[in-house]
Amino acid sequence: MDWREEVKRLEKALEELRSRYPAIIPSGELEKIRTEFLGKKGPIKALFDFVKKAPAEERRELGQFANKIKRAFEEWISEKRNLLQEAEEEIPDLSLPAFLPDLGRPHIITQTIEEIVSIFEELGFALATGPEIEQEFYNFSALNIDITHPSRDAFDTFYLDLPADKEKGRYLLRSHTSPMQVRIMEAYEPPFAVVVPGRVYRPDAVDSSHSFMFHQIEGFAVDRGIKFYHLKAVLWEFARRFFDRSVELRFRPHYFPFTEPSAEVDVSCMFCKGKGCSVCKGTGWIEVLGCGMIHPKVLANIPSGSEGLTGIAFGLGVERMCMLRYGIPDIRLFYTGDVRFLRQF
Ligand code: PHE
Repeated sequence: MDWREEVKRLEKALEELRSRYPAIIPSGELEKIRTEFLGKKGPIKALFDFVKKAPAEERRELGQFANKIKRAFEEWISEKRNLLQEAEEEIPDLSLPAFLPDLGRPHIITQTIEEIVSIFEELGFALATGPEIEQEFYNFSALNIDITHPSRDAFDTFYLDLPADKEKGRYLLRSHTSPMQVRIMEAYEPPFAVVVPGRVYRPDAVDSSHSFMFHQIEGFAVDRGIKFYHLKAVLWEFARRFFDRSVELRFRPHYFPFTEPSAEVDVSCMFCKGKGCSVCKGTGWIEVLGCGMIHPKVLANIPSGSEGLTGIAFGLGVERMCMLRYGIPDIRLFYTGDVRFLRQF
């Protein structure tokens, strides 16, 4: 063996390793390189074997070269090992199976509101929202709900412990979204068609279909020549888009102080297709909303006068719509925050 040549060859090999791996080396590969050069069958071992057999006068010098090249390899390898160890402490193991973070999503009630509102937007309605803390004037008087109406009773409404407003009465959590009919009339010149989603509050005992807080969507339109058939057409188109193209509507005469005539609207039961089941209590119909022609006393809130104007209005319960749409049996499921329920939507 020409040991000088061999030392040079090894120096060059180390140089090559340095330039091929300027940074980190996977531990498996590093181990392979170590065995290749420093292992029992490697060239460095061979070089030392050669040293042992070399003539005494050469042995010293040769030994020094062999030690030097061996140390250079060892140092390089331990440097790379240190790098690897540091990196393992810092960087997560990218070879581990990935898990996706749960990004969350809008609550099913929010999704339902967005869907209903967008149907009405397509039918020409604009979106508005109003205060949850209302005044008696907007919640009752301006809507022709007189002072003797049971819903005005302190036990039937959440009144706030605030000094009453001189003109507009006591403050309360709104019991419906209809007050926004009046607020829009005060703020905008007709014609308009508006939908108002939002929370409403009633001191109802909580059970599978009642909650002290729930969501409504109010819809109303005021213009010249607005007729009951506009109301029917809008509600029918909405029901067919929200539930099913085959859904039927039934308008039952009803009474609301703020509409005249008034109706309650039933949809044909989507669970039994009108045949009669436990959801529709055997009737084939399910009540979904209240509506009517806006009462002249309510239209009288338009500052420029209501001469020649008519209007339609409806109010629907979002939870109820959502329960019917997805077959949800208990309203309390919306509010407990149980992700096993919520992540289905
Ligand atoms: N505000 C009524 C309620 O909460 C619903 C309704 C709205 C009825 C608009 C007629 C017109 O029961």
